[in-house]
Amino acid sequence: MKNEIIKLFPKIMDIKDITLREKTIECWKKAIEMSPFSLEDLDKIPFTLLLDKTDISLLKHTNAVVNTSIKIAESFIENYGDKMPIRMDYVISGAILHDVGKVLEFEKDKDGKVVKSHYGKRLRHPVSGGIIASEVGLPLEVVHIIVAHSKEGDFTKRSTESWIIHHADFVNFEPFKG
Ligand SMILES: [Fe+2]
Repeated sequence: MKNEIIKLFPKIMDIKDITLREKTIECWKKAIEMSPFSLEDLDKIPFTLLLDKTDISLLKHTNAVVNTSIKIAESFIENYGDKMPIRMDYVISGAILHDVGKVLEFEKDKDGKVVKSHYGKRLRHPVSGGIIASEVGLPLEVVHIIVAHSKEGDFTKRSTESWIIHHADFVNFEPFKG
């Protein structure tokens, strides 16, 4: 499954810390094993249930958020340098994993429509994603990015990397509301 995950999320290979890279892969693997969906489904299931209709898949959305996050981080490095230290490995890992919990939050109904699962009604994806990330031993900084990327994070003090993923995520969502 490891090679398939790398193929789906090619920026994984840009994570310099090998342990962090492996744990990022392990997190997606564990989430899929717990989920009713397969890796192949990631490019078929919608990235959100909050839009009436979208043809943007969870895979496409996630990679868009990864690319947006890296570009914001690069701009920070270019413009602010040492005044705003950025840990790029955390940006990449956190962006790749920010919505990993959605494969537990969603399920298919008997007509094959993707709907909110019972699990998802109890634990939203930032929480389930944070739990899995913690279980595979990802650093607290990455768990924080996952838990705080959504509105849940409004109640905490976000790290710099977490602010980046939060805004990269919302800018890849809000315009689709039309
Ligand atoms: Fe997202």
